Amino acid sequence: MKKNIKKALDKVPLITIAISVDRNITYYNNFAKQKFLFIEEGRDINAVIRSMELNSFIDKAFREKIDFKVEFQPSNYEDWYFIADLVFFPESEGSHKELIVILTDQTMLYNYEKMRTDFVANVSHELRTPLSSIVGYIETIKNDINLGKITTNKFLDIMEDQAWRMTRLVEDLLMLSKYEAGDKPLELKETEIANILQKAIDNLNKKIEDKKLKVNLNDLFTKKLISLNSDSIIQVFINIIDNAIKYSDEGSEINIVLKQAILDDNAYVQVQIKDQGEGISNEHLNRLTERFYRIDKNRSRDLGGTGLGLSIVKHIINRHNGKFTIESEINQGSTFTVYLPFEFN
Ligand SMILES: Nc1ncnc2c1ncn2[C@@H]1O[C@H](COP(=O)(O)OP(=O)(O)OP(=O)(O)O)[C@@H](O)[C@H]1O
Ligand SMILES: [Mg+2]
Repeated sequence: MKKNIKKALDKVPLITIAISVDRNITYYNNFAKQKFLFIEEGRDINAVIRSMELNSFIDKAFREKIDFKVEFQPSNYEDWYFIADLVFFPESEGSHKELIVILTDQTMLYNYEKMRTDFVANVSHELRTPLSSIVGYIETIKNDINLGKITTNKFLDIMEDQAWRMTRLVEDLLMLSKYEAGDKPLELKETEIANILQKAIDNLNKKIEDKKLKVNLNDLFTKKLISLNSDSIIQVFINIIDNAIKYSDEGSEINIVLKQAILDDNAYVQVQIKDQGEGISNEHLNRLTERFYRIDKNRSRDLGGTGLGLSIVKHIINRHNGKFTIESEINQGSTFTVYLPFEFN
């Protein structure tokens, strides 16, 4: 390959590799080197990028002397996705000595697409379950004329429950998309944070009493007022305390401490919500804020959960430029910590 062509290819912002008919690499540009650290001239391309599809299309290109496009996932880099354009360079037209392999990295697009399809599948699944239950009961009530009033009422109660579950799911999804999209700025107001916490606790009072739990709020925060969007921050605390209630045994305690904290030289109000519940094992900790991620799907559903609670929490805190951490150990309870900056703009 001529020097000036190599120079030009070095500037092409795509992974570009040239190979000879024996598949040995004759040239690669800087982008190829950045992506495939072990690339070297003279090496078989298959030793650098392993893929049956790519290989067979390289064969075809040399055999049929025409350009090809192929999508593939290398077996030695399983998380990566590429589209390869196999082109003969004008210089070598006629002789077909060198084939240029231009790779477009599709990994981000692929992951995004997968996230989107997973999300649609999850939503459909979550809606289908209560829907089919409702439809089932409607049919029973319609078809069985001998159903007594008591049984009919029992069925209606179940249908009502399921309808509420769908409503909650739709409300959670709307809330999630509102905070995720982030197109409108949040309306902020100087607010007393202890007040917000108390409101969240009051909102959950019935559940707290039903499980005979004790919720202690220890306010060590002296600044009191901080700038925040109170509707969304109440939701953050409701979601976290609701979990603490759900995943704790009857009669246990939930301790909430409010204080000031410094992280990377910035001042935050720190709200720590600690339960004495069943705890969470390490492998799940990093994934709890993913949409629909639940340790035990059936159990969460039985408890009325949609699996969106903590992802809503994460998005609201991000919109406040805050931080969120989860610490836990099996049988040792869990601690959820929210950090909100004093100065937020
Ligand atoms: N305090 C906790 N103790 C133990 N496990 C918890 C706790 N909080 C959350 N989890 C686990 O994290 C998962 C995700 O929580 P998240 O709040 O997002 O969903 P959910 O509670 O199942 O449903 P919902 O969206 O209705 O709140 C839960 O299903 C549960 O397995
Ligand atoms: Mg929850």
